[in-house]
Amino acid sequence: MAKEKKIIITIDGWSACGKSTLAKQLAKELNYKYIDSGAMYRAITLYFLRNHIDWTKPASVEKALKSIVIEFVYNPKSKESEVYMNSENVEYLIRDLVIAEKVSDVAAIKSVREFAVRQQQQMGKQKGIVMDGRDIGTVVFPKAELKIFMTADNAIRVERRFKELFEKNPNITIDEVKNNLEMRDYIDSHREVSPLRKASDAVVLDNTSLSLEEQLNLALKWVKERM
Ligand code: DC
Repeated sequence: MAKEKKIIITIDGWSACGKSTLAKQLAKELNYKYIDSGAMYRAITLYFLRNHIDWTKPASVEKALKSIVIEFVYNPKSKESEVYMNSENVEYLIRDLVIAEKVSDVAAIKSVREFAVRQQQQMGKQKGIVMDGRDIGTVVFPKAELKIFMTADNAIRVERRFKELFEKNPNITIDEVKNNLEMRDYIDSHREVSPLRKASDAVVLDNTSLSLEEQLNLALKWVKERM
């Protein structure tokens, strides 16, 4: 029997519009690897904050990056891959609002992006991968077979992310979440290096009023068309 063709699927879009939920489901369904590229920028931010790295100084950033090793390790219990920074599982820590408040600034630094993109491209060498982020279809894998650009109504995005963060931190307010998303959207789409853009050959998925199942079915239909 002919070996099934493996493709690269990229999912880009605004913060908190459900990219990772869809990407994880799609990867499970297709038996592909799932990589959350945002987790890499979050892990780098965690390192910078912990080690008091002044990221406005290019030399400090360059030096710090040399000490950071990021890996994705599959957790058979949760059946998902988790991000490790220098052998420490930081999957939970990097979801904190303290990281979310700084990550867009860190992700706008050219040398940080070069560091992350190099590794992301390496991870896609064998194909059979779903990667989500902001520049995956435009910069990391410009030749990907399927590029999805996700979007959703702002109020829905705020509500979804608020629910997620509230579970961990009941002191969080809706306004804090709303301000953080607005700030990140602005920085992510206005930065000089690889700003968030829809690739010209990406398909748009607005999930404002779609169930998870509907989104998955739509994405699987697009995958089939490209096989
Ligand atoms: O997807 P996320 O919210 O975990 O991403 C965290 C931040 O990292 C986000 O504000 C923008 C940045 N990011 C990026 O610049 N490029 C990517 N490919 C992924 C994330």
